[in-house]
Amino acid sequence: MADKEKARPAFAVWIADVTAAVEAPNELRERADPEPEQSLRFAGIRKVAIFGAAGRTGRLIVDLLLANSLRVTAFVRELRSGYDLPDVVRIVEGSIERDEDVREAIEEQDAVICALGPSRRGPPDVLAVAAGTIFPAMRDLEVRRYVGVLGATVRCPGDSATLGAAVVYGIIRIMARRFVRAAGTHLRMAEQSGLDWTIVRPPRLTDGPPAGVAAGYGVRLAARSSISRADLAEFVVSQLDTDRWVGRAPMVVGRTRPR
Ligand SMILES: NC(=O)c1ccc[n+]([C@@H]2O[C@H](COP(=O)([O-])OP(=O)(O)OC[C@H]3O[C@@H](n4cnc5c(N)ncnc54)[C@H](OP(=O)(O)O)[C@@H]3O)[C@@H](O)[C@H]2O)c1
Repeated sequence: MADKEKARPAFAVWIADVTAAVEAPNELRERADPEPEQSLRFAGIRKVAIFGAAGRTGRLIVDLLLANSLRVTAFVRELRSGYDLPDVVRIVEGSIERDEDVREAIEEQDAVICALGPSRRGPPDVLAVAAGTIFPAMRDLEVRRYVGVLGATVRCPGDSATLGAAVVYGIIRIMARRFVRAAGTHLRMAEQSGLDWTIVRPPRLTDGPPAGVAAGYGVRLAARSSISRADLAEFVVSQLDTDRWVGRAPMVVGRTRPR
């Protein structure tokens, strides 16, 4: 599939992408209606490891986990001033590429959250790399619950987009090809992981105040759709309390009007 894409001119890939996004079949959209929410009240979840803990969304997730009396392990690339993580957080410093570092963070945890994002320090395929180390470690250590953040560039059956969004996201998929491909790999590996996984797919992130979200496969993505990191963090943490989206990858869009 990747080879075929490489052989096609970027413009042809983009046109096919836009057409597919706008023409997502309705029956697939309808399939997305979730079952009624079921609260697990953090059942069995006391300790959570978070990858990307020092990122802008990750940091908000850490605060929410602590506010919910959960114990937090933060995986960071290296200890450096400016991370500003609370003292109660257990910090594991390591490389996402090294199995033993990742295992150290996940050991004795009840759930794993991943909010890793693209970084100038690389690698661009960090999300594929992370799936390759995190999922096997979770299986070995019998940690079942996984919540990961990817993005709206990752398409799923049943997605719905305006023509504007299809155009904009089509361009992003080409411009950030390696990162988007790695995110797609992460989703496929989650699907095959055998874990209780949820992948959250937000559009553009903002630092605005929380305003509530719409989540699902049929949420219509517009070119200017966004979600605040505060809302995204809240949605991610709330997944520890419900099995509503286990084995699914909902698009999560903020309810604020685009500015
Ligand atoms: N920004 C957007 O508009 C947007 C849109 C849709 C989805 N998303 C997704 O939303 C999530 C949060 O985004 P954000 O903008 O809040 O994140 P962010 O501030 O960019 O933080 C990303 C974090 O990932 C870490 N990271 C990257 N590569 C790493 C590696 N190899 N090893 C260890 N840590 C690594 C970074 O650590 P360092 O500081 O050490 O590099 C940073 O803490 C990400 O998954 C992103 O893909 C973002």
